[in-house]
Amino acid sequence: MAQKREVWKTHTGMILAMIGTEVGLGNIWRFPYLCGRHGGSAFLIPYLVLLFGIGIFAMMAEWVIGRYSRKDPLGAFEKIKFPKGREVGAWGIIGPFFLYAYYIVITSWVLFFIIASFAGLYFGKDTQEFFLSFLSSPYIFLFHLAAVAITSGILALGVQKGIEKACKFMIPALFILLIIVTIRSLTLPGASAGVEFYMRPRLGALLNPAAWIAALGQIFFTLSLGMGAMIIYGSYLKDKWGIPTNAVACALGNTSASILAGFAIFPAAFALGLGSAVSGSQSIGLTFLVLPKVFERMPAGWLFGGLFFLLLAFGALSSAISIQEPSIAWLDEEVGWKRKRSALFTGLIMWLMGLPFILNGYVMGGLGEKLALLSKMDIIIGQLALPLFGLLAIVGMGWVMKEKGFQELHKNARHKFGKWIRPWMRIVVPSATILIFILSLITVLEERGVIKRILPVVKIREFVPLGIGPSTVIMIILATGLVWGGCIFLTTRAIITEKRKEKGI
Ligand code: PHE
Repeated sequence: MAQKREVWKTHTGMILAMIGTEVGLGNIWRFPYLCGRHGGSAFLIPYLVLLFGIGIFAMMAEWVIGRYSRKDPLGAFEKIKFPKGREVGAWGIIGPFFLYAYYIVITSWVLFFIIASFAGLYFGKDTQEFFLSFLSSPYIFLFHLAAVAITSGILALGVQKGIEKACKFMIPALFILLIIVTIRSLTLPGASAGVEFYMRPRLGALLNPAAWIAALGQIFFTLSLGMGAMIIYGSYLKDKWGIPTNAVACALGNTSASILAGFAIFPAAFALGLGSAVSGSQSIGLTFLVLPKVFERMPAGWLFGGLFFLLLAFGALSSAISIQEPSIAWLDEEVGWKRKRSALFTGLIMWLMGLPFILNGYVMGGLGEKLALLSKMDIIIGQLALPLFGLLAIVGMGWVMKEKGFQELHKNARHKFGKWIRPWMRIVVPSATILIFILSLITVLEERGVIKRILPVVKIREFVPLGIGPSTVIMIILATGLVWGGCIFLTTRAIITEKRKEKGI
């Protein structure tokens, strides 16, 4: 029990671990499809506004609580003296079990698709049938077990030797593979129609409240908020690292992966005649039903398909470890278990909790029936629970920690926020989060037919390809230049500053 608590070993390792929790299934299957649905690159407007206005602050609040308390989420809420802190913080331990349970099932499909692509198993087959038959085959148990074993194995090795080392390999590999797949996609004849679909801003979509609700929901998911993950990862931050700049660098790194994913998917799909399938499909369908068709038609598609699913697996696994970590930290620090034992134990429980989602794949029927349980869980946890627990952390920092919270936020920071940060963190960020939670709840209830339609539905004009026009070009420059440029600039500068400090210059 009395062992020294670990912190991230290096600055680069910390950034990669943070990007590791952020970049995952959310970036690759969720973000591109949300863009397709909500006005192409116009979706970047609510996304970036809410990312910089709300999301990054919510993320900093979790880091602040984590670093200040240097505890697992349960202990952290107690330490900051949040009313009923242990009970509230317990959600940061229990909630992730539910997220992990289905997140790892999707991860196990990804692992299977790596092999299926390299071996060309779905080539010449109906991809829908192929996927459905996998869902009710015994192999799924094997891949599920493998996925749980990988995350538990990495976590058993600890923060520096496990999480940090794994992310140092997986995240650069993910970006390299993503760039390779994107280049392949962009160089296919006819790829420009996909670029245009993705990047031409259809501003009318912004009038639709659904675009804004989807954007903030996506931000909570992609920034790994509301699950204890950022609190525990924040608790491993060194004091000398300024929170604001690092938070912005990580959020931009994450966004750059999302934007790239769209460039990997849409141009290829449009070039290979699957544009309408890809633009019309729902999230899960896009990755496991339409993309295999794209790879089947692509020259050397087995290779690019395999690489694509491999990079997706890196993203998913590096996120899954951050979902499992809070409970391990709690068992280690508060119950006094050895890390290996906690990793094995949490892995076992999480594996068991995933079984109902797998068994659901054995019921008769189509995709809807086989994924019914998983979709329900994604709504409850992925869409509704995250903003709710995220809100507790925001309130915890702004209203419970008060000045101590703002001091922690600015500790050793090169860039400090002005006085506006107090009302912003205490009023604007929580209000926006509450609003979005209520609106998401209404949307879910409306979709399920529980309540009559209240929110307006704005009919969006069909997308008609026109050829790459000036607005598309502007958005390409903004999306790539601003986000990637910003990310590369901030990360290199942060690394150089730290190296200088270490050398004492
Ligand atoms: N950010 C991860 C993704 O986009 C999901 C996640 C959510 C991870 C919450 C941890 C906590 O896939």
